Amino acid sequence: MRKKYFIILLYFISCFVYAQRVSEDLVPQRIILNLTPEPATSIAVTWRTNIEVNEPKVQVAISTQWIEFKNDIINSSAMKERFITEHKEEIFHYSAVIKNLLPNTKYVYRVGSDSVWSEWNQFTTADDKNSEFKFVYLGDPQNNIMEYCSRVFREAFKTASDADFWLFGGDLVTDPLDDLWSEFFYAAGFVFRVTPIIAAPGNHDHKLITVDGKLRRSREIGNTWKVHFTLPENGPDGLKETSYYLDYQGTRFVIINSQANVEEQTLWLENILAENSNKWTVVCFHHPIYSSGRERDDQKTRNAFQPLFDKYSVDLVLTGHDHSYARSKKIFNGKAVDNNVNGTVYVVSVSGPKAYPLGNKYNNLMVKTGENVQLFQVIVVKENKISFNAYTVNGLLYDSFEIIK
Ligand SMILES: [Fe+2]
Repeated sequence: MRKKYFIILLYFISCFVYAQRVSEDLVPQRIILNLTPEPATSIAVTWRTNIEVNEPKVQVAISTQWIEFKNDIINSSAMKERFITEHKEEIFHYSAVIKNLLPNTKYVYRVGSDSVWSEWNQFTTADDKNSEFKFVYLGDPQNNIMEYCSRVFREAFKTASDADFWLFGGDLVTDPLDDLWSEFFYAAGFVFRVTPIIAAPGNHDHKLITVDGKLRRSREIGNTWKVHFTLPENGPDGLKETSYYLDYQGTRFVIINSQANVEEQTLWLENILAENSNKWTVVCFHHPIYSSGRERDDQKTRNAFQPLFDKYSVDLVLTGHDHSYARSKKIFNGKAVDNNVNGTVYVVSVSGPKAYPLGNKYNNLMVKTGENVQLFQVIVVKENKISFNAYTVNGLLYDSFEIIK
């Protein structure tokens, strides 16, 4: 008789443990907001679960001071994508673009399904006018992300918790592996759930191939990029979500995949720079035009892009790749020019712990260079001024300048 009770008890305990496990596997993970090409009226959200959710959804409502927002929820269905990790584990990623939002409005949202939801998070849409905004720029996190980038991301959030979005300049991870993306999300904590992200891919975000017996980075973006992000699809054919552009409150942001063929992107780039009516233009890609690394000089990228930056008066170019810091004078046609004439400021920065020695090839063009430093940049764009502040991971102001126009 006792044995029978024991077996029944064991059965109920097993059921309870299984239910708990199933429930945990349905909890949305790696929730991230991305900007869309219409940031005043839409936003993209991406997440994943360990086991498949049949009807993934996003719920959104205008934020209220109490929980009455729940009376006015709008449901959106999400796309589903099955993904196999490097450990042959099956994972499910979901994405949705929430549209028809009001400009400059705070919303609450959650993701999941009718059985298991995430917590409610908040975001604010962009203004539909050319008003002041703030964003954070981060160069390559790439290595030891959980160990050493957590403090950079968290210091950046403490310094600029009101940033409207974050921009990454590539090499988010050193290999496009799920384990490393796990570290990337761990380091950011809840930040990506409340602050939209845009990013340019770096060489390390691309797949490895073997050429003549040697491992090389290919021009094919790693499988992990598109399942974790829902980025604009207005780039050149074959480079959707890795080259793209969007306008944010009077500034055109052009994100370029510089690991792909840069010459083939110049026509696309010229078109979107030529028809740009925004006051400011910021371009971000991974490989620097004026390298700060000792043995680096990316002539291909410089020859392809710099004439267009000059011709269309690009204000600021943000790059990474060289694992050091360099901020140029205003440059036009390869030469330093006065601050009151047309020209472009070029920045190389790094957020992760990997450090390369500085080169001096372009010292005559630079205002500030540095090595062995982890940095984040807080950039405020106003009607007549861009204010740029670079901070060290321990919160000290490292470099500062303004572009006035
Ligand atoms: Fe790189």
